[in-house]
Amino acid sequence: MTTEASPSANAPIPGLSLIACVSSDLGLGQGNDLLWRFKADQQFFRRTTLGHPVAMGSRTYASIGRPLPGRENLVLTRHPLAVPGLKTFSSADDLTAYLRQLPGEKFIIGGASLYQLYLPLAEKLILTKVAATKPADVFFPQFSPADYTARELSAGEFDGTPYRTVEYLRRTPA
Ligand SMILES: NC(=O)c1ccc[n+]([C@@H]2O[C@H](COP(=O)([O-])OP(=O)(O)OC[C@H]3O[C@@H](n4cnc5c(N)ncnc54)[C@H](OP(=O)(O)O)[C@@H]3O)[C@@H](O)[C@H]2O)c1
Repeated sequence: MTTEASPSANAPIPGLSLIACVSSDLGLGQGNDLLWRFKADQQFFRRTTLGHPVAMGSRTYASIGRPLPGRENLVLTRHPLAVPGLKTFSSADDLTAYLRQLPGEKFIIGGASLYQLYLPLAEKLILTKVAATKPADVFFPQFSPADYTARELSAGEFDGTPYRTVEYLRRTPA
């Protein structure tokens, strides 16, 4: 006898993107800070995420230091924070269930541990790829570009360093 399969807990979450700025070796940060801050990427991040829920780990929240305005701020931590404007989740399962029932677009904004957890569940990766390296202690997880369709969203340079922003859309299984 066959039974109808229930929606898989491992199925990608509709509308979920990971958004990050990475160096050419996928470096994300050092000493709980970013490797680079440049205006074009900050503006792109704000424009892209504004009005949508953003989920982050507690270390990323600590490095930002306040809830991001104009967005629902979701923080994964085993040590709940009583901060107005923040919704905290003590387990990845709880955060995942919450993200799954949210309509529309939502973003994982870091850090390394959240990117690692949500890479298999994201429909899209939005990576600003800086063509340089710096010492880093956290990295974006390795992923297989063959699993995605890539589209360049923009390119430019800051302080003489080139960067490209690339959207990777997960290929749906045939
Ligand atoms: N380049 C970029 O675009 C970008 C973006 C964001 C962040 N970053 C960088 O990334 C670094 C931070 O990344 P990170 O990986 O160290 O920290 P993180 O992912 O921001 O936060 C890690 C914390 O999240 C909580 N957490 C993670 N998994 C959990 C689970 N399964 N259940 C419950 N809680 C869980 C824990 O919080 P508690 O310890 O409170 O329990 C853990 O210590 C910084 O350097 C930051 O600047 C870079």
